[in-house]
Amino acid sequence: MALRTILNKRDEILSKKCRPVDKFDSKLHTLLDDMKETLYNADGAGLAAPQVGILRRVCVMDVGEGYIELINPEIIETSGEQTGVEGCLSCPGEWGYVTRPMNVTFKAQDRFGNWYEKSVEGLFARCVMHECDHLEGKIFLDLVTRWVDPEELEDK
Ligand code: NI
Repeated sequence: MALRTILNKRDEILSKKCRPVDKFDSKLHTLLDDMKETLYNADGAGLAAPQVGILRRVCVMDVGEGYIELINPEIIETSGEQTGVEGCLSCPGEWGYVTRPMNVTFKAQDRFGNWYEKSVEGLFARCVMHECDHLEGKIFLDLVTRWVDPEELEDK
């Protein structure tokens, strides 16, 4: 495994739409293993492949409920609403309030190409929406309704 460099929001790769994964081979597994290591090393909740320069529909996440890999994810249903503070590993030091669905049901493939379906809520749902946005070339900054002063966060 190896750490990958996390691109900054200024990199134009982050505004591009990602292509589906069609080969579930060792190259994909290496990417996933590297993304996992990079995610934990950066102490993040989620990481999408474009953030490490790969324009494929892959993301990894762990919001404290276990590590999970999403390949070719599709949102099936959303409901409810939550507003909370969000950040991104590609936007260090920038935090803002974003409104997201409270409940999200999605389907995705695992690293072997098997489809699974999962329903998540709260922070997990927020993270799924945030990472899926990355696959469309969207960054959370455009959704922020109120910015958070970094000093305000340090008090938490
Ligand atoms: Ni992000």
